[in-house]
Amino acid sequence: MHALKRFPFYLETISNELSSVRLISTANSISYSNENNLKSWKEIPGPTSLPIIGQMLHFLPGGMLHDYNKLQEILYNKYGPIVKLDGSLGSSTLIFLFEPEAAFHIFRNENWAPVRPGFQSLEYFKKHHSRKSGTVFNESTGLLTEHGETWRKFRSVVNPALLQPKSIKLYRDTLTEVAEDMVKRLNEYFINKAIQNLKKRKELPLEEKGVLEKLLEIDHKVAVIMASDMLFAGIDTTAHSVIATLFLLARNPEKQKKLREEIMSKQEKQTYLKGCIKEAMRLMPVVGGNFRQITKEYNVLGYKIPKDTFVVVGNQYMSLMEQYFPQPSEFIPERWIVDKDDPLYYGNAHPFAYRPFGFGVRSCIGRRIAELEIETFVSKVIESFHLEWFGPSLKVRPATINYLIGPYNFIFKDV
Ligand code: HEM
Repeated sequence: MHALKRFPFYLETISNELSSVRLISTANSISYSNENNLKSWKEIPGPTSLPIIGQMLHFLPGGMLHDYNKLQEILYNKYGPIVKLDGSLGSSTLIFLFEPEAAFHIFRNENWAPVRPGFQSLEYFKKHHSRKSGTVFNESTGLLTEHGETWRKFRSVVNPALLQPKSIKLYRDTLTEVAEDMVKRLNEYFINKAIQNLKKRKELPLEEKGVLEKLLEIDHKVAVIMASDMLFAGIDTTAHSVIATLFLLARNPEKQKKLREEIMSKQEKQTYLKGCIKEAMRLMPVVGGNFRQITKEYNVLGYKIPKDTFVVVGNQYMSLMEQYFPQPSEFIPERWIVDKDDPLYYGNAHPFAYRPFGFGVRSCIGRRIAELEIETFVSKVIESFHLEWFGPSLKVRPATINYLIGPYNFIFKDV
């Protein structure tokens, strides 16, 4: 999405920063710091820790971190922009960052072959169980689970099929059909139609083929592995972003009305729609933060962080900070549209404060598909129904992603 559009701004930020910040790079360590006396990472503030169980007590009922929904907020308010959460019972120590420039510094320097752990169970399953049964996962297990050269090789094969806007545009009609289909509740009809369509499409030229069809032409294994990653990473993320957007629109009838007017106008550029989605992803992000296992030593915010440390960027909380987004807890899609001189203008925030799709060469490969899906779906629903919500607010259950748990108390009224 916005990441590419905002890229020039990014470059500008990089060059400004480079001129104002002392950046020292050696073979093993990179420094972004205006301080001379760097402290050890062990001195980074964080909750108290006990031998073996570490900080686990804080997560138990009654503990200060028991409400996992507020983890980032509590850590930042109590300890500041850099916080250490000790590992316990063999798990790794995590360094949380709530300072966008420091996070940007690390992510930018990790951008050649970034390591993003976090799917160890899936990795184990693919490497040990699936490989034994002789499946496609012999050379690569996919984007979510690979790192280093294997990841880079796979990503370079699949990037063109997934990131070229013209490849993704091919889905517009199909997605519109799905959204209309939901509206009409004619599921069976669509599935049969999709199967017939795929059969027909065999003869189409390559540029008119969909992502998986294209990959199938290049390499059958790559297509199967990518399909598995897309199912794993692409369904709940998109579905929950749609629910969050619809929920916020139901709760903000004025904004919903404004959006319906834009949709009904059928103008080509649906800027308010995009603004609503970005704003929903800011207020209720499906992914709470960005994650890297650093491949070098970094000096940030007065501390030395050693190679191989796990660094988590608290984007969920940074997106709610008043200093970056005025009136932070309000649903204001306009902030993504207004001019530079408006105090609400999103560009006043550091670009690393809000990063729903990650960063750089390892950022979300499904971003364009996700945006098209969400836009199509939200647009069709708002065109057809006036949405209301009754009862208590939506609840979030944080896990690998932030799950929005039912009941989904929507009321759909014909427009
Ligand atoms: C609103 C929906 C979505 C959100 C918010 C989202 C967010 C993210 C984020 C934050 C990352 C990590 C990026 C990084 O480490 O820099 C990621 C990676 C990934 N996403 Fe998405 N995603 C979404 C939808 C999708 C869809 C629809 C697909 C598939 C078609 C997908 C496939 C992937 C894959 C395969 C990766 C791993 C990329 C790699 O490591 O090279 N995602 N996503």
